[in-house]
Amino acid sequence: MSKKLRIFTEKDPTLRNKSKEIDLETIASPDFSELISDMEYTMKKSDGVGLAAPQIGQNVRMVIVNSENGILHLINPEITKKSWAKETGEEGCLSVPKTFGKVVRHKKINCIFSDANGDKRKIQASGLFARIIQHELDHLDGILFIDKATDIKYEK
Ligand code: NI
Repeated sequence: MSKKLRIFTEKDPTLRNKSKEIDLETIASPDFSELISDMEYTMKKSDGVGLAAPQIGQNVRMVIVNSENGILHLINPEITKKSWAKETGEEGCLSVPKTFGKVVRHKKINCIFSDANGDKRKIQASGLFARIIQHELDHLDGILFIDKATDIKYEK
């Protein structure tokens, strides 16, 4: 049974650490499969579109994102290409509750990563999907959207 994990917030130092690479042995372990399914469950229950491992207190380089083709697991993700063109859009974050702001992101990106089987994959993303990936990858380097945002608004 999947568990809903506690989501760490802004003041937790975990969110500010640089996360570590995950090795193949770890990816193949039952504990890691459990972590993935707990993160999926937590993201769904929290109405999130993406979730990075540091947000649930684990400083490892893994994020999950909702895509048209279901939930994507990005392990050790790296952006290999960024469009010159950028666009501004509103963002929020489960770790920074009730806060929204405008962030400039690359319109298109290429990203390489390992999937949950440890296989290397590559995707191209644009628009909102590219934005979500950039936001989640920032979490792996201890960066929160509020570090980059303008026009920050707080919801009551
Ligand atoms: Ni976030």
